[in-house]
Amino acid sequence: MKDLEEKNCFITGAASGIGRSFAIALANEGMNLFISDINMEDLERVKEEIDKIGVKVYTGKCDVAKFSDWEKISKDFFSELKELDLLINNAGTAIGGDILELELEDWKRVLDINLWSIIHSLKVFLPHMYNKHSGHIVNVASGAGVFGSAEPASYITSKFAVVGLSEALFGQLYSQNIKVSVVIPSYVKTNIFSNAKIKYSKNLIDAYGEDKIEKIYHSLLDELIRNAMSPDKAVKRYIRGIKKDQLYVYDVRSVLGPLSLKANPQLFEKFLINYHENAIKTTKEHFLKFGINIDDFK
Ligand SMILES: NC(=O)c1ccc[n+]([C@@H]2O[C@H](COP(=O)([O-])OP(=O)(O)OC[C@H]3O[C@@H](n4cnc5c(N)ncnc54)[C@H](O)[C@@H]3O)[C@@H](O)[C@H]2O)c1
Repeated sequence: MKDLEEKNCFITGAASGIGRSFAIALANEGMNLFISDINMEDLERVKEEIDKIGVKVYTGKCDVAKFSDWEKISKDFFSELKELDLLINNAGTAIGGDILELELEDWKRVLDINLWSIIHSLKVFLPHMYNKHSGHIVNVASGAGVFGSAEPASYITSKFAVVGLSEALFGQLYSQNIKVSVVIPSYVKTNIFSNAKIKYSKNLIDAYGEDKIEKIYHSLLDELIRNAMSPDKAVKRYIRGIKKDQLYVYDVRSVLGPLSLKANPQLFEKFLINYHENAIKTTKEHFLKFGINIDDFK
């Protein structure tokens, strides 16, 4: 999608981070927007910023996990903007921590928000794109959708599915002139880390209390993103890729590195093991700074 001016975009999770930066950057390109989120207070603030740019902008509440919200908001979208050119499935969440503490509803919540959101969006918006033989679908995945990193297993599962779905759509919709891109952010400085729900080991909480463990864990996440890219800078790069109709869109090319390692399975196995050992070492060293040896609580 080379020319964005006066085209229409629907975007989820636009109240914060990457979604907010997408909304503002696309407005600056002259796009009309329908922005959505569950956090209406922050979303209205984003609308105020976009109003100043002078394009059309509408807001609506859409919990992406709920299909009834999609049915309603798609009707509102079409009654305001009539045509959909760019659909950005951006909203996402993470629930991390000890895999043994993850409940089934935690897995379901992550898959509902990160994966089912996109399936819901296709159900309400794809027929329209099919009818007019045009449109561009952008799904925001993650570096966690490229290899089995140290991020929460539920998050990785959801983002692998988003990458797989996007690849399938890219091939299947090509003949309909519908473009598909999947965004693979590396580390981008947003609220997703501070908002992430963490399920800590019960033994650790019994020994030190949830507040202390939560503070230590979040300070580790803060360290991880201290030098991360700003969402504005990352989104500028994503838009460049979207304009070139690229399937994989990224902020730093190295985020795709593990893909090429998979061509050598033995090397890839070693890479996964080393990667996890390093992540465990970093977490262990961080907790030791606070006088806690997490190995004592396994
Ligand atoms: N920040 C990173 O480093 C990073 C890395 C890889 C992937 N991502 C992906 O980027 C996307 C955007 O995340 P972000 O980093 O900007 O985080 P963020 O927390 O700043 O923004 C996420 C937005 O999604 C909204 N949201 C959460 N649950 C929702 C729901 N059920 N329905 C509707 N909206 C909901 C939140 O209210 C928030 O406004 C996510 O899909 C995330 O997985 C981010």
